[in-house]
Amino acid sequence: MQNLLNKVRIIGDPVLRQKGRPLALPGDTPFIIGLVRTMERTLEVAEGLGLAAPQVGESVRLFIAAPNHLDELNGHVVFINPELKPYGETVKREEGCLSVPGIYETLSRPSRVTVKARDVRGNSFTLDVGGLAARLMLHEVDHLDGVLFVDRLSPIKRKLLRGRLRKLRQGGRVY
Ligand code: NI
Repeated sequence: MQNLLNKVRIIGDPVLRQKGRPLALPGDTPFIIGLVRTMERTLEVAEGLGLAAPQVGESVRLFIAAPNHLDELNGHVVFINPELKPYGETVKREEGCLSVPGIYETLSRPSRVTVKARDVRGNSFTLDVGGLAARLMLHEVDHLDGVLFVDRLSPIKRKLLRGRLRKLRQGGRVY
């Protein structure tokens, strides 16, 4: 199981900085099924809430959410080519990321989002979510655009983290 966790790319890996390509449905379906299987097992072992494809080295627009964790997702676990419309007031909430291990910081983001995406069968669906589910969507779609949550911290907070982030980029651990 440990080798699954080794698949998770850590800050400093160039794939985390690429903009993922949109997936074609149904053309990419066999690739998507294999990718989702790997990601679901990885997320389960890592005990994370969400995982984006670039975090396992695939620069494509897909993320998954941990199953049965967030009621607001109506059972949706796989989000392909997601499009977000954030709205509502800005709220503060602590975030962490499997690709930035050991670092947890409070970050402001919009409180709600409408997400439109496709599932593994290619069916389009739309959800309107708040709270932790909204935060998850915003965090994961950032991954598909090559953005990590630490990029969104204030300059002061980033400066305070500089040494720990450098250590992670060099392959070290900060926890
Ligand atoms: Ni993340």
